[in-house]
Amino acid sequence: MNSDILISRRSLIASAAASMALSACGSGSGSGSDDGARLDGGAIASSDKYSSEAGKAILQAGGNAVDAAVAIAFVLAVTYPEAGNIGGGGFMNIFIEGKPYFVDYREMAPAAATSDMYTRFKTADGKQDPLSSLWGAQAAGVPGTVRGLYEAHQRFGRLAWKDVLAPAIDLADKGHVASKAEVFWRDYAITNFGSSGYPANLMEYFGTMREGQLFRQAELAETLRRIAANGSDEFYKGRTADLIVAAMTQDGGRGIITKADLANYKVVWRNPLPIEWNGMTVYTAPPPSSGGIALGQLLGMKAALRGTLFVGERPNTVQYMHLNAEMLKRVFADRAEYLGDPGFVDVPQARLLDPAYIRARAAEVNPREITPTETVQPGLAKMHTTHFSVVDKWGNAVSNTYTLNMGYGCGVVVRGAGFALNDEMDDFATVPGQPNIFGVIGSDANAVAPGKRPLSSMSPTILVKDGLPTMVIGTPGGSRIFNAVYQVLANTYDYQMPLPAAVANRRFHHQLPQGRIMEGEPFSPIPPDLAQQLQARGYTISTNSFDTDIQAIKITGRDVMPVSDPRGRGLALIVT
Ligand code: GLY
Repeated sequence: MNSDILISRRSLIASAAASMALSACGSGSGSGSDDGARLDGGAIASSDKYSSEAGKAILQAGGNAVDAAVAIAFVLAVTYPEAGNIGGGGFMNIFIEGKPYFVDYREMAPAAATSDMYTRFKTADGKQDPLSSLWGAQAAGVPGTVRGLYEAHQRFGRLAWKDVLAPAIDLADKGHVASKAEVFWRDYAITNFGSSGYPANLMEYFGTMREGQLFRQAELAETLRRIAANGSDEFYKGRTADLIVAAMTQDGGRGIITKADLANYKVVWRNPLPIEWNGMTVYTAPPPSSGGIALGQLLGMKAALRGTLFVGERPNTVQYMHLNAEMLKRVFADRAEYLGDPGFVDVPQARLLDPAYIRARAAEVNPREITPTETVQPGLAKMHTTHFSVVDKWGNAVSNTYTLNMGYGCGVVVRGAGFALNDEMDDFATVPGQPNIFGVIGSDANAVAPGKRPLSSMSPTILVKDGLPTMVIGTPGGSRIFNAVYQVLANTYDYQMPLPAAVANRRFHHQLPQGRIMEGEPFSPIPPDLAQQLQARGYTISTNSFDTDIQAIKITGRDVMPVSDPRGRGLALIVT
């Protein structure tokens, strides 16, 4: 860490607490620059009000975007327990002092993991059990969140580590008012996965949580206090590590994470994937996320067809949806075949993003008919996640998506530590040809192997124009993530919608292998007349979906405009 940063660290919490008064989201304006500030204010778009308020307090206390991001992530681990986490993993995309960085803190398969480990779990009728990679300790990968947040903070934070954890500890101690969604996702997990019979103790910790009532998490507060005092080694080598290992076999569980797995967990500092688009550089997620390559292919194919098939088309017409579905088919075919952890497989990233390849793929789009799934081949020769975006007054930006996979992960709460473990092993292609919980398939490139990271769709993204961030964006949503980011970027830059409208606009989804299904969303279902037109084109309309939850900040000149998706319980704040 550079010495300037060390020198500028100071205790903040008293002043942070004093400055918790909120200003509502609106257009940025302010009093001009101080201490090198490039913007009139910072901004936060996070997935609940507690985390947005904590991030605001950190920025007001002199923290930068990374300090605020780390504080937000720890708060969400308390107040958004279905996805915010210390028992999962994620990706943090950082643009600071004019340079891009990408922190890969994705979960890792334990050393004892094997490519056929999930084929050994059978249902009562002797078939492979798809719930075995979703529920119970054997579904958990080695968590990366604490190490990822710690390394990002060590490298770039201005404030003391213990101070950025303080808001989360406070909320775990004193409690937060539980939302409808927290209770919904708990009940959803128990109803849909709990019956599988793999030992899990979610209700022991979250069973008393009631919508609208204060919910305290004393054990989690203690865990966070230990991490605040001892740094990330506490989680990977200390008492918390012992408790995680004990949770592997608690109540008869069959988890395989060992002390050595935890001690060996490594964050990977990667270069974010740069995509040139519309006069901007889109810095987005590289493998082991599929999100950046998919986003690059979607933006590229649409740009290739801008002067032909997209002429006169507005978002969400039947033809617009069909053209995008045709593009998405090609993206998902490549995703299933080529993408996996680049530490284990040779991902042909440059070829998948080669403009000539993208033009050729765009030329395959059939403007009239649905291309049959079986004819969409990979093109080269041969829930629960959450997102937040932060900008500080110096113009530094953080886009962070992290996850437990499904709501409350594998349902195992580490006894004595009070946090849920992920079920990220389901993001591997656990059984060849079998779709995962998001309905997508994979190949050997994404087979389970010891130390490997499962393929993700998380796409924390920062758009940079003339060397400065101009958009910070991301969302949860599994395989829907990069498509949601793509649609909001197209709405904003191709159709000039104001950001709130671009985010609120109806979204749709299409993927393989379900090649004729056009998926609507609960927030804004496909209206009956549009559904009829799509059906006439041969699509089946699915309402069996879920909402994505974009958190975005647009920067124009000195102004910031944060927007939290109306689909979620987020809060957008300007920090002046
Ligand atoms: N667990 C969802 C993702 O990483 O894409």
